Amino acid sequence: MMKLGTYLPLNERAYWKDSQELVCVMIIPEAPDTVTFCFKTADDSWFLYQPGQFISLELPVGPQPILRTYTLSSSPSRPISISVTVKAQADSIGTRWMIDNLKVGDRLRAYGPGGIFTFTKYSADKYLFIGAGSGITPMMSMTRYLFDNGEHTDIALINCARRPSELLFANEMRRMSQRVPDIKLHFVVEEDDPYAAWAGYRGRLNQLMLELMAPDYMEREIFCCGPEPFMRAVRDVLNVAGFDMDHYHEESFHAPIRTEEQVPEYDDVVPSEEATAHLTFALSGVEADCRETDSILTVAREAGLNIPSACQFGVCGTCKVKKTKGEVHMVHNGGITDDEIADGFVLACCSQPIGAVEVEV
Ligand SMILES: Cc1cc2nc3c(=O)[nH]c(=O)nc-3n(C[C@H](O)[C@H](O)[C@H](O)COP(=O)(O)OP(=O)(O)OC[C@H]3O[C@@H](n4cnc5c(N)ncnc54)[C@H](O)[C@@H]3O)c2cc1C
Ligand code: FES
Repeated sequence: MMKLGTYLPLNERAYWKDSQELVCVMIIPEAPDTVTFCFKTADDSWFLYQPGQFISLELPVGPQPILRTYTLSSSPSRPISISVTVKAQADSIGTRWMIDNLKVGDRLRAYGPGGIFTFTKYSADKYLFIGAGSGITPMMSMTRYLFDNGEHTDIALINCARRPSELLFANEMRRMSQRVPDIKLHFVVEEDDPYAAWAGYRGRLNQLMLELMAPDYMEREIFCCGPEPFMRAVRDVLNVAGFDMDHYHEESFHAPIRTEEQVPEYDDVVPSEEATAHLTFALSGVEADCRETDSILTVAREAGLNIPSACQFGVCGTCKVKKTKGEVHMVHNGGITDDEIADGFVLACCSQPIGAVEVEV
């Protein structure tokens, strides 16, 4: 990385690759157990991504590094550095390691960017961004981008947290909304901080609150990210109001919880609990018998092979492998494109082998 304070124009830099070494350049405490880490590339290349996308970071937690996926809270309108804002839950391994160990100057390998949760795919006159907890990170990236874009884009932005002290990016959001009439900002908390007055909305987000904060929400393209019960509550409000759910988009940081009715029907062969399958890992020369209901990732691990993986529910794309023979049943959550599938790629974490299958691992 070049010397601090040196200016290098964008047109003299390369742009970053799918796998890149990053250098941590700044660490900003945001809220309890929540920290923003800013990175530059080790070779001074610039970052190209869509606002709302994520990267996966390789964290040297133990003898085997682990991968964790984080949304880029930064905006691609400022392409020289990126940031992720991470919140460690109780028992966290990867995120806790970052908060306790990562220092300015440390290097980490990053994979990505990936993800389809971005307003850029859904052009609209008006947006409604709703985020809860660390789920506000994609909303922050998209709002920063639209603000930097310099055009008047109508955004209703709702930032929810347990307490006011846990609201992420509150000051920067206030600054942006005070400078332009187009960003209508609202905060919702479940309870007050002790000994501190709170004049904003209090309680769980409901229909009445939504009508007060964004009276024209039925006309908006809606993006929502947060814990599953939070997103379910938002979906319920919208469904009751008769909102056209084609204009609702959400991202889950964890495996989606689906009711029986929500499980989609697939037109390929569905794996059977009783049926056996056979996996050939062509590059390593390893073969394994398994059940059709096992994932390729699980079978590889049991056979002592390492397929890099992060989310393990088909969203981050880290575990993409090339299938050279046979069929799989794959239930992904957007971590692979139709073109990649047509080229023979599958996501190992959410693909189950039907009969004999060979992969390039
Ligand atoms: C597309 C995508 C984007 C993401 N963006 C962000 C982001 O911007 N910021 C961020 O902080 N995280 C983000 N995540 C989540 C992140 O990737 C990790 O899954 C999360 O931080 C947990 O990893 P960990 O190492 O902290 O905990 P782990 O070591 O994986 O988990 C330890 C234990 O904590 C539990 N646990 C983990 N997370 C939670 C939770 N939220 N609530 C309750 N229990 C939990 C686990 O079930 C496990 O028992 C994103 C995930 C995805 C898929
Ligand atoms: S590990 Fe994220 S898609 Fe498989």
